[in-house]
Amino acid sequence: MKTQRTLTKTKQYFDAAQRHIPFGVNSNFRYWEEDTFVVTHGRDAHVWDADGNCYIDYRLGFGPIILGHAYPAVTEKVAEALQYGNLFAWTTPYEIELAERFTRMTGMDMVRLSNTGTEATMHALRVARAHTGRDLIIKFDGQYHGNYDYVMYNTPGIDAERLGASWPTRRLPASRGIPKAIERYLLSLPYNHIEAIESVMARYGEEVAAIMVEPVMGNTAGIVPREGWLERLRELCDEYGALLFFDEVKTGFRIANGGAQEYFGVRADIAAYAKAMGNGFPIAAIAGRRDVMMTIEPGKVAQGGTYTGNMIAVAAANATLEIIEEQPILATIFERGRALMDGMDEILTRHDIPHAVTGIPSMFSLIVGTNEAPVDFLSYARNDDDFYEALALALVARGVMPDSDSREPWFMCYTHSEQDIAETLEILDDAVGEVKQGFRRAFAKAA
Ligand SMILES: Cc1ncc(COP(=O)(O)O)c(C=O)c1O
Repeated sequence: MKTQRTLTKTKQYFDAAQRHIPFGVNSNFRYWEEDTFVVTHGRDAHVWDADGNCYIDYRLGFGPIILGHAYPAVTEKVAEALQYGNLFAWTTPYEIELAERFTRMTGMDMVRLSNTGTEATMHALRVARAHTGRDLIIKFDGQYHGNYDYVMYNTPGIDAERLGASWPTRRLPASRGIPKAIERYLLSLPYNHIEAIESVMARYGEEVAAIMVEPVMGNTAGIVPREGWLERLRELCDEYGALLFFDEVKTGFRIANGGAQEYFGVRADIAAYAKAMGNGFPIAAIAGRRDVMMTIEPGKVAQGGTYTGNMIAVAAANATLEIIEEQPILATIFERGRALMDGMDEILTRHDIPHAVTGIPSMFSLIVGTNEAPVDFLSYARNDDDFYEALALALVARGVMPDSDSREPWFMCYTHSEQDIAETLEILDDAVGEVKQGFRRAFAKAA
């Protein structure tokens, strides 16, 4: 089943890329050392590398592709809008149409656009601080909120064992170059631990501007909230006058039309959206309760950007959200995602590999090396990374492309067909068989 792939052109391109682009990628998350890809195009749920090899894509650009690559109804709307120009630094009728649809779907009162998830969470934090007059933000270990200094602590890339056993956990920066002085504006805690958040709020609650949470751990294996946990965050925010800030960058328009708030029935005061909102075009949003959003005020509380609301992005979001709202997109994705999750479970069980399948059918993860489904970042760390990575690379060699890192969920899109799912499972069966043998031999040698 393993196809003989040629990667000559891909390697040549990657060599050329490294001459002028650090590590040959425009985002560190795309670097797979010598296995880094150069992709020429995508269509529906498939992508092609520079040598013409085709892959069933489960990375989907790290989640934004909710309909499929080059989805005609989206690209046509973008092309149509572009005839009128792209950027005017004035409000356009397209933005008003988007705001109406967006607020109807999410249940939020008001919305401001931005370009990336990073910008959206950054602005949301400023709004939360301005609204409450407080500086302190609470986040959770193993969650990611963007590539800027204020939030790059205890992100999924750090060593979970170093977090320590007390709450709040030790703050560990995700990068060199972050000023030490800013760590005092943030506290981090384990996800899903009611006792931890209660004790930290009892001590710091009056100083907390916002509890910032990915409602599902979209950057740590799609771990889902325990029953009552999000509800408790809501209650604690109300009790201490802090804002509940949902980072819906991955969950928005992916786990329900109204995101995690609809899926779990818990309302946030402010939220950030991006990814699935534009099917891969760069658009994001900060949305929230009217009084919170009206904290933004010219000359007083800043939010802005040259490219916010540009025609390409807004047309893409209008088209994407219209399709999601009016067609059974997420229901179809859930059905196929569920079939894939169940099939994975059956295959790994049959091969006698300890494993857990975590998450929600539109974004889920496979964890190997333990039968216990993780509930937080520390328990996730018990998985066998090496086995998973070997399995992911064996899948890629056979034409199925998840991320090589099990923290990153498998993402589903509307154009993953039943045939794609069947093919993926057949390939998984074969790949597990091969990787299992390799690991047995390695274990035997080590013994
Ligand atoms: C939950 C979450 N928030 C924020 C971000 C940052 O978004 P962007 O990469 O568009 O800046 C990401 C990116 O993966 C994310 O997963």
